[in-house]
Amino acid sequence: MPPKLLVTGATGLLGSHILRAAQENWHPVGTYHRTTRRQAQYFFGQIDHGRIDLGDYSETKAMIADVQPAAVIHTAAITDLDYCEKFPDESLRINLNAATDLAALCGDSEIPFLFTSTDLVFDGSSAPYSEDDPPTPINIFAEHRALAEEGILAVYADAVIARLPLLIGYASLGRESFYHKLVASLRADREVTLFGDAIRSPVSATVAAHGLLQFAGSGFEDDVNIAEIDRVVDRLHLGGRDQVSLYELGLLTLRILGLNEQLAVPVSVLDSYTGSLRTHLLAARSANIALDSTRAYDLGYDPPTLRSQLEELLPPAWRIQPAGPDAGQFGQETDEEAAV
Ligand SMILES: NC(=O)c1ccc[n+]([C@@H]2O[C@H](COP(=O)([O-])OP(=O)(O)OC[C@H]3O[C@@H](n4cnc5c(N)ncnc54)[C@H](OP(=O)(O)O)[C@@H]3O)[C@@H](O)[C@H]2O)c1
Repeated sequence: MPPKLLVTGATGLLGSHILRAAQENWHPVGTYHRTTRRQAQYFFGQIDHGRIDLGDYSETKAMIADVQPAAVIHTAAITDLDYCEKFPDESLRINLNAATDLAALCGDSEIPFLFTSTDLVFDGSSAPYSEDDPPTPINIFAEHRALAEEGILAVYADAVIARLPLLIGYASLGRESFYHKLVASLRADREVTLFGDAIRSPVSATVAAHGLLQFAGSGFEDDVNIAEIDRVVDRLHLGGRDQVSLYELGLLTLRILGLNEQLAVPVSVLDSYTGSLRTHLLAARSANIALDSTRAYDLGYDPPTLRSQLEELLPPAWRIQPAGPDAGQFGQETDEEAAV
């Protein structure tokens, strides 16, 4: 029987990709929160899963005792930046306190623990950022993630903090990720405004999931595992090799799809502080937060080019094809990045 890997937030964009990729070497166990039981039944199928509010310490403690995982990858979070700005207590409860509580519980039992943090802990003034650069958060979500990183290492020195870049991919359960909404709008021939000065080092959620699992190993003795990695580093950056603005990401997508490049319209991230976008974006957005991921590359993390990752995500049937009726609208952002 393969070792158990507990993936919190398994219904999320990243967690769902980890869950899928983990089935090869692990016995994955996923958690969810707001997803209905019926949806969870459909989504998880034969995979072990459980509903939990990770903000509830006793529930979390009981879950760890019950599952007895060989390792934990913690992806559960409230990732809507503007929601966190509006409800900071809720962000504090989940994005900070739940993360440190879970790390402490894992520490008590010496369970390898990998925390998925974010490039957004940086303000964007001095990219590219290495693991040793101090966080400089500019919104509530980022502040709580930065504090969680610190808190986790304080309660469990052997934990590993993996900072991820913007994730490109499609979410499960009919949810719309940033990239899903971008592609849907472009395919529907709708203009999309994108930050031309917000630089990221994106990877697909699949690449990120495989990278995280690579550092989690398979739990078997002869593999690299979290505990071994921790002897080398506390923090890892899992950024891609290409640094692009969100506008350039839109352009690249349009080129692959063979669509009109005028559909991507650049705007400035500064507008999210003071300009016209301030009216509907509550949280400030960082400018250039490209990650220097040399440390992870040296440890064997090897993301393909951005173009080839996008080509994987954009099926040939979508290229130079009129917009379909199912294309979604841009609406409230629910994942970390801002399409504006
Ligand atoms: N998406 C990105 O571009 C990106 C970029 C950099 C870093 N990251 C990091 O990657 C991690 C995952 O992000 P994501 O985009 O995959 O998130 P997501 O799609 O918003 O999913 C969040 C997950 O957390 C669960 N959750 C929320 N509140 C919970 C609670 N109180 N108790 C238990 N579970 C709860 C959700 O369960 P339900 O759905 O059932 O409510 C869902 O499974 C985060 O740490 C984030 O900082 C993401």
